[in-house]
Amino acid sequence: MARTICVAIFVLFTCQTSYSLRDLDYYWREYTGEVPEDAILGGRDINGNNIYIGQAYVKNEGLVVVQITPGVRQVLAPMKGIKKIDKYIKILCGPQQKVFWMSSNSSNLHLALIDKHAVIGGHEDGLGYINIGRISHEGEVKIGKINSFSAESAQFYFNDNGLERLITSYEILMYNDKDLDVRIKPY
Ligand SMILES: *[C@@H]1O[C@H](CO)[C@@H](O)[C@H](O)[C@H]1NC(C)=O
Repeated sequence: MARTICVAIFVLFTCQTSYSLRDLDYYWREYTGEVPEDAILGGRDINGNNIYIGQAYVKNEGLVVVQITPGVRQVLAPMKGIKKIDKYIKILCGPQQKVFWMSSNSSNLHLALIDKHAVIGGHEDGLGYINIGRISHEGEVKIGKINSFSAESAQFYFNDNGLERLITSYEILMYNDKDLDVRIKPY
């Protein structure tokens, strides 16, 4: 009896810790056109201006990673084509030194993420988590989503002048959690 209770308590405790997201240093703030001071830099556009990482809700599809251009309220979400969104947009914020970009590709991503923590970018309804990706494209950085729920075909999707495009090699935004004992489990 005592043993059963011990096992039950152990299981309960373990489950709780692995799903808790406490102590994460990044967070999403509301974005209405102005970039907060603690926004995490995504890269630079063709004119050398900073771009940032956003998140937008696409109805019946999920929470999608988008590129944010300072001063521009509207974002173009790569989700079954390009969806224009100008409401309830979020921008990724936190200490810049807690994140870094790691090169990967669609067939290798799952292996590369073992025992590491990629920043969660959102989700696709019924499919799973997506991560934050970027590529260098025609002289500028493009921010987009990685459908990492798809084992061995975790591709990067972005807005290329109004068209949704898919690329298999990219960089993924990682969280530097060396002093953290908490991992986010794959979906
Ligand atoms: C994907 O990345 C792995 C590890 O870096 C590498 O060995 C492999 O060749 C890459 N595949 C492609 C198609 O780039």
